[in-house]
Amino acid sequence: MSFDRNTYPDGFLFGVATSAYQIEGHGQGGAGRTHWDDFSATPGNVARAEHGARACGHLDRLEEDLDLIAGLGVDAYRFSTSWARVLPEGRGAPNMEGLDFYDRLVDGLLARGIKPAATLYHWELPSALADLGGWRNRDIASWFGDFTDTIMDRIGDRVWSAAPINEPWCVGWLSHFQGHHAPGLRDIRATARAMHHILLAHGTAIARMRDMGMRNLGAVVNMEYAQPLDDSPTAMAAAELYDAIYNQFFLSGMFHNTYPEPVLAGLAPHLPDRWQDDFDTIATPLDWVGLNYYTRKIIGPGDSPWPAYREIDGPLPKTQMGWEVFPEGLHALLTMMQARFTGDLPIYITENGMASALPVNDADRLAYLDAHLAQVRRAIADGVPVDGYFIWSLMDNYEWSFGYEKRFGLVHVDFDTLVRTPKASYRALASALNR
Ligand code: NOJ
Repeated sequence: MSFDRNTYPDGFLFGVATSAYQIEGHGQGGAGRTHWDDFSATPGNVARAEHGARACGHLDRLEEDLDLIAGLGVDAYRFSTSWARVLPEGRGAPNMEGLDFYDRLVDGLLARGIKPAATLYHWELPSALADLGGWRNRDIASWFGDFTDTIMDRIGDRVWSAAPINEPWCVGWLSHFQGHHAPGLRDIRATARAMHHILLAHGTAIARMRDMGMRNLGAVVNMEYAQPLDDSPTAMAAAELYDAIYNQFFLSGMFHNTYPEPVLAGLAPHLPDRWQDDFDTIATPLDWVGLNYYTRKIIGPGDSPWPAYREIDGPLPKTQMGWEVFPEGLHALLTMMQARFTGDLPIYITENGMASALPVNDADRLAYLDAHLAQVRRAIADGVPVDGYFIWSLMDNYEWSFGYEKRFGLVHVDFDTLVRTPKASYRALASALNR
């Protein structure tokens, strides 16, 4: 069993992760409307038009869920703070009930000896700000800075770590170029602007938190291993472009004060004027970087305009999401990240896990986690400073455009009754970590 603490360096951290909109029940507690409420209300965007109004009802089940986290024996819990729960209009008057909730969450974790790892933004933008252009509007950096001040003024003295924006690629590319997430745009100019403003907002939030005296501040990026279809120059170039957009763009902004050339070849005409002047803020120093990893993509040349690549269905066993299981990619990306960007900075795996249709006896999930943890240990042995590993997710929840069908949890949730049932993976993890 790969959860044996003796096989990891001293202080290596195990954790579980969730996010606000996916579990809380956004319809409760005075939260404002978000662009995910709007996106899911538009036919065709989300399976069965499901939304996060009730989700796992975590808001009303906080104590029960905190006990589940504690029962696992993990060291840390990664959660997010909903911007619209804290500031229903995105700016202006805070919702005291929302601030109180995050206060109770943090105190409840600390009382159980669990480190609170906060993410400020995990995708539910207040609709009032979406109306003003959302991530396309440069002002979002200062709106986000003000939200950071408001929430961290309340919990910043007690969180163990904080990161501004979960998975910038999803917030930028998936949502503005591919249209799969809110706001559902397919527009290259919107994409370029959103990607740049996400980084500007990230750097602004880091600087604001530093000014407040907070420590242990990081960034959470997602990566997929880009496997060329074959060794032809066209396939290699296609995979390199995919890798540059997906895996390099945001870290390049944060660590190299520029963007990768292959991405600039497509996006430069659409970036905001004088984008080069923003790197002082964007590259505000970090204390750690988090990697969310799930799968690889096989990439071949495509015949579309830029970016001319296509994704090819792969032969490996797949999860309930249809994602190939490719643990070696985690080692490869960790090694790449350290060599090209992060150097000596600690790296955390801030998400890894699988969706499985098996309701409670989820042997497949244990095998998936085992195989990926083996790659984490291999990276550590190779000198990559990986300091912790968070499983996605504590419990089954709202899997965005896939709705509630895809189950990532260590704990099963019955979405009619909201009853929680620990799965075999939860029990195995708990007995290994509590040993
Ligand atoms: C990435 C996201 O951060 C999370 O919200 C999502 O549920 C998981 N990956 C699984 O797709």
